[in-house]
Amino acid sequence: MVKPYLQLALAGIVWISLSLRTVTAAFLPIVPAVHTFATSSAGDYQLPSSLRIVVDAAQASSREDNGLSLIPPTLSAFAQTFASDLRQTFPTTTATVVTLDVGAGFTPNKGDIILTILPDTAAAQFTLAGGSHTTEGYQLTTTSSSITISGSGAKGSFWGTRTVLQGLVINGGKIPGGIVKDQPDWETRGFMLDVGRQWYPITFLTELCAYASWFKMSEFHVHLSDNLPGVDPNAYARLRLRSMVSELTPHVNETYSREQFEDFQQQCAARGVTVIPEIESPGHALVISQWKPQLALSSDPTLLNLSFPDTIPTVKSIWQEFLPWIHSKQVSIGADEYDSALADDYNNFVNTMSDFISQQGQKEIRIWGTNEPSNRTSVSKNITIQHWDFGQDDPFSLIRQGYNVINSEDSFQYIVMKQSGSFPQQLDQNRLWTGANTASGGIWDPHVFDRENASNNPTITDPRLHGAILAAWNDHGRNASTYLEAFYSIKSGLPVIAAASWQAASRPNHLTRAQFLSSFPSLERAAPGQNLDRRIPSKGSIVVEYDLSSNQGATVPDRSGNGYTGTLSGGTIQTPLMSKGHNYTLLVNTTSAVTPGTLLTGPDDTFALVSSGRGLTLAFNSTNITYPLSGFTFPTRPASPWMEIIITGTEASTSAFVNGAHVGEFKISISRTSTPQNMSFVAPVQQIGGPGKQVARFVLWDGLQDITAISAFHVQ
Ligand SMILES: *[C@@H]1O[C@H](CO)[C@@H](O)[C@H](O)[C@H]1NC(C)=O
Ligand SMILES: *[C@@H]1O[C@H](CO)[C@@H](O)[C@H](O)[C@H]1NC(C)=O
Ligand SMILES: *[C@@H]1O[C@H](CO)[C@@H](O)[C@H](O)[C@H]1NC(C)=O
Ligand SMILES: *[C@@H]1O[C@H](CO)[C@@H](O)[C@H](O)[C@H]1NC(C)=O
Ligand SMILES: *[C@@H]1O[C@H](CO)[C@@H](O)[C@H](O)[C@H]1NC(C)=O
Ligand SMILES: *[C@@H]1O[C@H](CO)[C@@H](O)[C@H](O)[C@H]1NC(C)=O
Ligand SMILES: *[C@@H]1O[C@H](CO)[C@@H](O)[C@H](O)[C@H]1NC(C)=O
Ligand SMILES: *[C@@H]1O[C@H](CO)[C@@H](O)[C@H](O)[C@H]1NC(C)=O
Ligand SMILES: *[C@@H]1O[C@H](CO)[C@@H](O)[C@H](O)[C@H]1NC(C)=O
Ligand SMILES: *[C@@H]1O[C@H](CO)[C@@H](O)[C@H](O)[C@H]1NC(C)=O
Ligand SMILES: *[C@@H]1O[C@H](CO)[C@@H](O)[C@H](O)[C@H]1NC(C)=O
Repeated sequence: MVKPYLQLALAGIVWISLSLRTVTAAFLPIVPAVHTFATSSAGDYQLPSSLRIVVDAAQASSREDNGLSLIPPTLSAFAQTFASDLRQTFPTTTATVVTLDVGAGFTPNKGDIILTILPDTAAAQFTLAGGSHTTEGYQLTTTSSSITISGSGAKGSFWGTRTVLQGLVINGGKIPGGIVKDQPDWETRGFMLDVGRQWYPITFLTELCAYASWFKMSEFHVHLSDNLPGVDPNAYARLRLRSMVSELTPHVNETYSREQFEDFQQQCAARGVTVIPEIESPGHALVISQWKPQLALSSDPTLLNLSFPDTIPTVKSIWQEFLPWIHSKQVSIGADEYDSALADDYNNFVNTMSDFISQQGQKEIRIWGTNEPSNRTSVSKNITIQHWDFGQDDPFSLIRQGYNVINSEDSFQYIVMKQSGSFPQQLDQNRLWTGANTASGGIWDPHVFDRENASNNPTITDPRLHGAILAAWNDHGRNASTYLEAFYSIKSGLPVIAAASWQAASRPNHLTRAQFLSSFPSLERAAPGQNLDRRIPSKGSIVVEYDLSSNQGATVPDRSGNGYTGTLSGGTIQTPLMSKGHNYTLLVNTTSAVTPGTLLTGPDDTFALVSSGRGLTLAFNSTNITYPLSGFTFPTRPASPWMEIIITGTEASTSAFVNGAHVGEFKISISRTSTPQNMSFVAPVQQIGGPGKQVARFVLWDGLQDITAISAFHVQ
């Protein structure tokens, strides 16, 4: 179906192309960079103070999307998300969404941003590196009066809105005139988070989707079940989807309800991100054998005995319960690190689950690359293999055998939270930008599995190479990190994986490291739909300041000038704030009654005085785990009736000062033998004071302050 408007628009584009310069280089250094840009003499677009987002009426309800989502939004829904992002990013701009017939005779208003979908013939030119058609492409036609975003599918148009927003952010509200043509080289551009060995609130996962979507990532692989290793049958083991079988998920407060998981998938889909759930077995399956101990191999409670008659029916029953919750065309059954002596059992299990999940849920499956030493059986070719380690499989050989493969190679894309003998805690930027090949250097992209030997890598045009997924693991379990620390660990690496998976390193306009370094800070700050940095707007360096010594009424003025007025009840101040992210400095002046009690409360953590040995110390509490300050206790008979506590926080550490003296850093001992690791906590600022803990003065600063300048114990 070719609509009259598009014929006109395409005619217009042909006309513009007459005045195109052959310069195809410099669009803007957005992340990822766009594939091609041809400048025109049509002038730059300048964001007006008020504009219309015009949805092509003929395409408004199109959900055209050949990706993995079963709940792709309409073009109209994407336009609404775009409008709200535009208002959030540029608060002084008014953007209204209108649906109009943009056919023949339509004349844009000055400032209009028009969203449409290309007719099939024009859309067909957008292909992945492997040659197949993608609905994630888009063309952006910019003149001084309007911008037209024409997707090869609805999601392609949405990615075009990311290009516009990012461009406006880094280019002072302007988009250069001309035509961008852009599409991903790979369809799988994802990140995986181990939510099995650490508890993450579902709202946090939803915010991560918004962050990843800003960089045009397409998948959030959620590793929903796992356990700590070893032979202890009572070790920490969890499945995060709330089962009707209470013995499978007895820790109800650490599971997602169907409604929560539904909302999470919908909100991710609204930003073009498909949630790919993983429920692990037959290895990493202690949560199953804690329910039914007889299912485990006698040698290892984390591995299921696939010969035991009830094992496969039990795993099937788990998938049967949860398949109706899931809105993606593929799911992962994990299936890594099983006993290689049972290779045929393993292969038969994987094939059985593939067929079962196909029949019950019309879904394909993925497994982690696992080279089972069998010459009798193999996993079927309709199973996608997620390669992660050369000791486990040979990805190019799998591709040559006819498997679809995703690159999660651990020398590029693997991190372990907080500490590891083998893997970094954040992605290695040097390796991603300059270490794709040990001998010749270069930027990594998903076709690189082996940095030592290029003959182990497919070409970028290999259609069986589906893309890349970075993996963030919680090997040390639930107390080694806070959930926000997981964001800090992927914050700067995720956009690099996104950029590399969008555009192969060999493309002429690939993002450079210098461009990334120049754009990333402002892009990171502007990422819409989330506040993972827990920023609080502030006019000056003092974010909020309350002084109860001079306050008599029920409202507590904020002396910072930001107007964050508090209300006083029962000695505690309720604020209009939640958490303050990094960097920050906070000061609490309270009576020194040496009793436990909560001083500061927020949605992400709390700060309290807690009992410790024979005394009292300071502690943060995040997701119900208490992290006391070790090596410090308050004197039982303090010299002063008041005490002044100062905390400084960065993404890497949290320091405490009492009455002007440094008293330590918050740390966690991951094991008896390793050195304690720093903990990073945001400042909880929803409630100041608590039962029995009145705070006389509270000050919160943005940034790290000079303690000697702010402490009453230093100012004489
Ligand atoms: C696995 O189950 C089978 C069937 O019940 C049993 O014969 C076998 O001993 C079990 N193997 C292990 C290692 O537990
Ligand atoms: C099959 O594998 C077994 C065990 O790995 C090996 O001993 C045997 O030689 C193989 N047979 C063939 C025909 O490759
Ligand atoms: C996958 O391929 C196998 C053959 O290897 C076939 O038996 C099975 O039906 C296929 N399953 C699906 C879901 O297509
Ligand atoms: C590189 O890999 C190929 C294919 O696996 C292998 O045949 C060759 O020996 C390797 N070369 C080196 C130098 O390791
Ligand atoms: C952290 O968890 C481990 C078990 O994984 C436990 O041994 C340790 O005591 C915990 N530490 C704290 C401070 O809760
Ligand atoms: C703490 O507040 C009290 C009451 O306002 C005041 O007398 C005292 O000087 C303050 N102390 C410090 C260290 O700020
Ligand atoms: C926060 O503090 C750390 C450590 O001093 C510093 O490296 C970092 O740049 C600071 N971040 C910001 C946003 O100021
Ligand atoms: C935190 O743990 C306490 C018991 O220690 C429990 O009563 C409370 O419900 C838990 N909070 C959450 C959010 O699960
Ligand atoms: C942690 O804080 C929560 C919320 O204030 C509270 O319910 C819980 O009891 C605290 N847990 C611990 C272990 O202190
Ligand atoms: C869930 O509740 C249990 C028992 O009350 C508590 O020990 C645990 O800390 C809670 N988990 C979280 C994440 O709050
Ligand atoms: C731990 O905190 C200290 C003090 O702030 C800092 O010097 C150190 O670099 C931090 N370690 C890590 C691994 O971030």
